[in-house]
Amino acid sequence: MKPRKPCFISLFFFFFFVHCYIISLADAYDPLDPHGNITIKWDIIKWGDSDESMYDARVYIFNYQLFRHVESPPGWKLQWDWYGKEVIWSMQGAEAYEQGNCHKIKGNLPHCCKKTPQIIDLLPGAQYNMQTANCCKGGVLTTMNQDPTRNSAMFQMHVGNAPYINVTNFTYDSKTLDTVAPKKFSLGLPGYTCDDPVRVVPPTRFAEDGGRRFTEAFLTWNITCTYSQFLASPAPTCCVSLSAFYNATITSCPLCSCGCRGQAGVKCVKPGETHNEDPLLQLPHSKDQVVPPLVMCTNHMCPVRVHWHIKTNYKEYWRVKVTINNLDFANNYTQWNLVVQHPNLRNVTQAFSFNYKALDQYGFVNDTGMLWGLKYYNDMLLQLGPNGNVQSEILLHKDPEMFTLREGWGFPRKISFNGQQCVMPPPDDYPRLPNNTPSNAIARPYVSSIIFLLALILLL
Ligand SMILES: *[C@@H]1O[C@H](CO)[C@@H](O)[C@H](O)[C@H]1NC(C)=O
Ligand SMILES: *[C@@H]1O[C@H](CO)[C@@H](O)[C@H](O)[C@H]1NC(C)=O
Ligand SMILES: *[C@@H]1O[C@H](CO)[C@@H](O)[C@H](O)[C@H]1NC(C)=O
Ligand SMILES: *[C@@H]1O[C@H](CO)[C@@H](O)[C@H](O)[C@H]1NC(C)=O
Ligand SMILES: *[C@@H]1O[C@H](CO)[C@@H](O)[C@H](O)[C@H]1NC(C)=O
Ligand SMILES: *[C@@H]1O[C@H](CO)[C@@H](O)[C@H](O)[C@H]1NC(C)=O
Ligand SMILES: *[C@@H]1O[C@H](CO)[C@@H](O)[C@H](O)[C@H]1NC(C)=O
Ligand SMILES: *[C@@H]1O[C@H](CO)[C@@H](O)[C@H](O)[C@H]1NC(C)=O
Repeated sequence: MKPRKPCFISLFFFFFFVHCYIISLADAYDPLDPHGNITIKWDIIKWGDSDESMYDARVYIFNYQLFRHVESPPGWKLQWDWYGKEVIWSMQGAEAYEQGNCHKIKGNLPHCCKKTPQIIDLLPGAQYNMQTANCCKGGVLTTMNQDPTRNSAMFQMHVGNAPYINVTNFTYDSKTLDTVAPKKFSLGLPGYTCDDPVRVVPPTRFAEDGGRRFTEAFLTWNITCTYSQFLASPAPTCCVSLSAFYNATITSCPLCSCGCRGQAGVKCVKPGETHNEDPLLQLPHSKDQVVPPLVMCTNHMCPVRVHWHIKTNYKEYWRVKVTINNLDFANNYTQWNLVVQHPNLRNVTQAFSFNYKALDQYGFVNDTGMLWGLKYYNDMLLQLGPNGNVQSEILLHKDPEMFTLREGWGFPRKISFNGQQCVMPPPDDYPRLPNNTPSNAIARPYVSSIIFLLALILLL
């Protein structure tokens, strides 16, 4: 956790409280997706086979986050600690990364004997007899909004050496039951932490025969994993640049948004320089390893830049062009998404060549929306190069109550790329409306309220 500023009781204690509250929000909790989580569900579907120390488990991973997905690489790598000396005899739909030391076992060798097994997804096109329904995506979990059919994973396994439970009367033996579930789950992804398993009563029901019949798990636990940007990466990876039809100035990303050029240990490729010989790209990369970015040398050094251009001002509508540039030679972004905050977004009429969805699920947010690529068209943001960008135009219906071109109102308040907040230029640098331009709309006291806020913060 970041150290918090001490909150003094003063005349402004209320505002200070708000200030501290905002700081603590930045730590773990995302106000735009307050219930966002990845849930692991551990269903024991059958206890006892040839002997009573064996069970069959079905494990699900659901991504219940609105705009944060799991990309490959790295893909999820589920890990837990067994309670006792359990071994995994066989698996479908996923596999253990290492078999571990199985020398104490006589006869056939188990699939995995590690105390802390690490389970990885199978790649698409895995052998048919290794598959399960909805499996084999190389560790990818899309967001709920982008593709609700691909936001989960499932694998099945046959577990041996399980702790003893009295099967004839197990439903009452709550204390022993809680030892059956493994502990210390981890998704192997930066920024996520998982809680202890919680036993779910009654256990999961599975629909069969198209929902005409139901079967039931013996025991079910769920494990909730939540994300914290602070734990994941304190440094930004994205920045925003701005322009408008009424001013030739292009406001570029702030200097050193993601790093400084020439900083020790920071590498970049100068325009025109060949990068293919770079030793970083020559390393043999395993398919699920994260490749460090190799960015183009810029003043901001971000791997991703989002450009917002106010393109046209019609009578009742206005049009914005959004361009995302990948400035990283070493990474493609699959299933990318952008979350944008702007007061007029509740009146989006159309987004051309992107998908758009308002993020108003929680009622109290009405100025935020999510953009993502069209499947097979621009849902992959390719590495730096001639095709390393995606773009779209957005048509917005003017809300005459608030629309204005003055004071940079047409620019977004916040943008995040793949759930990571992008660095915005300071409002003083925004392209300004020339002084003699008549505006067909009312100027809003937007800047004065910022000054008021700044004055308040300074006072404190
Ligand atoms: C996780 O997300 C699901 C789906 O939105 C929600 O039902 C559940 O309550 C969440 N869990 C926690 C602990 O927030
Ligand atoms: C298991 O539970 C049943 C029913 O309560 C009981 O009759 C039996 O003795 C128990 N077995 C053991 C080994 O404790
Ligand atoms: C199962 O065990 C509980 C206490 O452990 C006991 O109260 C209950 O009567 C037992 N049920 C059966 C069917 O034996
Ligand atoms: C997990 O189980 C707890 C306790 O039963 C429940 O409150 C929570 O909603 C469950 N989460 C999901 C995603 O089912
Ligand atoms: C990005 O994707 C393209 C097209 O699928 C592929 O040719 C290229 O090698 C990929 N680049 C990286 C860095 O993975
Ligand atoms: C949007 O949210 C703001 C702040 O919560 C609120 O003042 C405003 O009335 C809302 N507008 C609509 C149209 O719901
Ligand atoms: C903009 O959206 C809000 C909320 O949906 C609605 O009340 C308002 O009438 C809309 N304005 C225009 C100009 O479409
Ligand atoms: C365009 O915007 C810049 C930056 O805000 C400002 O310095 C400049 O005066 C503006 N140009 C005109 C013609 O107003």
